Amino acid sequence: MKKVTSLKNVKNIKSLAIKFSLIDGLAPDKKPIKRMLSEMKGMYLDDAKLDEMLAKQDRIIYEFYNMGMPYDPSELAFGTTILHPGKVGDEYFMTKGHFHEQLDTAEIYYCTKGHGYLLMENPEGDVELQEMTPGVCVYVPPNFAHRSINISDMEPFIMFFVFRADAGHDYKTIETKGFRKLIIEKAGKPEIINNPKWNS
Ligand SMILES: [Fe+2]
Repeated sequence: MKKVTSLKNVKNIKSLAIKFSLIDGLAPDKKPIKRMLSEMKGMYLDDAKLDEMLAKQDRIIYEFYNMGMPYDPSELAFGTTILHPGKVGDEYFMTKGHFHEQLDTAEIYYCTKGHGYLLMENPEGDVELQEMTPGVCVYVPPNFAHRSINISDMEPFIMFFVFRADAGHDYKTIETKGFRKLIIEKAGKPEIINNPKWNS
């Protein structure tokens, strides 16, 4: 590879270059935030199954980055989400999901590895579902809560994301109400169902 040596005199660099591995989605120089199975209590349909799994062992469900970008509308936050494979009963491992505190802000997700879905819903009850494989980019429109779901039983589902840095995360609404729809495995295939626990 050609080496660039002529940038020595460039001062006050404000740009960032961060490497995210195409193999595992991790950035070697940054620390990801880890979400454990124990932090997902109440999020899955089968609470008894979750308790049974936790009695044996807690484990990481997903990891993602907070780059510490300034909380400012002119900035962009970005990073990767690494969602590990597995199920709680018939329900695939998923992220908790969130609305943005600034509800009218969008987000981009680009899949680099694995196979999964992005489930979205807005407060009015419109539901969107997009299947993601490597190379697929999904635009999450403003006002839509979003959750990723890993339907592979072997591979991590890895996505690169970008959103307005001051968007903020509202997890509470999803923790309280849930999503209207769930993705479960039925006869070996993913199926979208109404969430019996959804709380209007
Ligand atoms: Fe988001």
